[in-house]
Amino acid sequence: MKNHITFKNGDSMPKLGLGTWKSEPGEVYQAVIWAIEAGYRHIDCAAIYQNEKEVGAALYTAFKNNLVKREDMFITSKLWNNAHLEDAVIPALEQSLSDLQLDYLDLYLVHWPIAFKQEVGFPRTQDGFLTYQEAPLSGTWKGMEAAQEQGLTKHIGVSNFNSLKLKEIMKGANRVPEMNQIELHPLLPQHALVDFCRKHDIQVTAYSPLGSSDRASSMKKDDEPLLMEDEVVKGIAEKQGVSPAQILIAWALHRDTVVIPKSVNQDRIKQNFAAQKIELESADMEKLNHMESSYRFVDGSFFTFEGSPYQLSDLWEDA
Ligand code: A2P
Repeated sequence: MKNHITFKNGDSMPKLGLGTWKSEPGEVYQAVIWAIEAGYRHIDCAAIYQNEKEVGAALYTAFKNNLVKREDMFITSKLWNNAHLEDAVIPALEQSLSDLQLDYLDLYLVHWPIAFKQEVGFPRTQDGFLTYQEAPLSGTWKGMEAAQEQGLTKHIGVSNFNSLKLKEIMKGANRVPEMNQIELHPLLPQHALVDFCRKHDIQVTAYSPLGSSDRASSMKKDDEPLLMEDEVVKGIAEKQGVSPAQILIAWALHRDTVVIPKSVNQDRIKQNFAAQKIELESADMEKLNHMESSYRFVDGSFFTFEGSPYQLSDLWEDA
């Protein structure tokens, strides 16, 4: 199994990256250093995680101390929803570059197909949004293309886009999206959307691969399943003498998706990296590919409350 994917221009991206969503500013500096020491060469970031300055400080230290070279790291960041107007994209990317202490990104993604007014971090009322008429995705994508043309990012893509939204972007694009980062794990394998992306040469990254149980309680339902406690996952883990988390990561890698488990704990950071060595039998892959139940942990309902111009069908394939 290859441990990287390859873009059309020949650039490669390590399939396993460190996720930094929910990593507190006080923890993420050390997590990034531990990850690089453990062998990670890919860090997944975003402006809205509000920790890019600390990630940047860790990268600065790692480069200064010759732990790793910039060109050997793959760094992703994401455009927040309040910078979707065409002219707002490059300034937002430049802010991430400044926070991350980098002069280019490897990958920049449109975080959600949803736009807010510039001064709004997270809308509490309908007034905080911009509609597709006010902030068309085609304009956002033009801004992304301009950023790539200027060399601010090597690759551009999207996150949380369904096939309809991908088609919409591709229709008018000079440069097609090269990545779609979506929630993927055995309770939400999204086979159809992954196939669609593959057919259009769009690579796929799996977020929340472990079920993101450290989400804020406001984002969680009381009865949500615990992915790492799932009997099928646990059974395969026990058989192999590894942890459920490692089986979930190995599943994503065997599917040839990129995967970004988050951890701020040194042992778990190392353990997750070691999942690259795990082989999964095809019968076990089948079991994980076709679980009896399904569940979406990041359900997007925080964008679709009453009065919002957005609906779940703007996000999800099956909504
Ligand atoms: P921690 O950061 O304390 O290690 P996701 O990547 O799906 O968002 O899941 C992240 C959650 O999973 C965090 O709570 C993280 O906790 C936990 N986690 C990460 N790696 C492991 C592991 N190997 N075993 C158990 N829990 C893990």
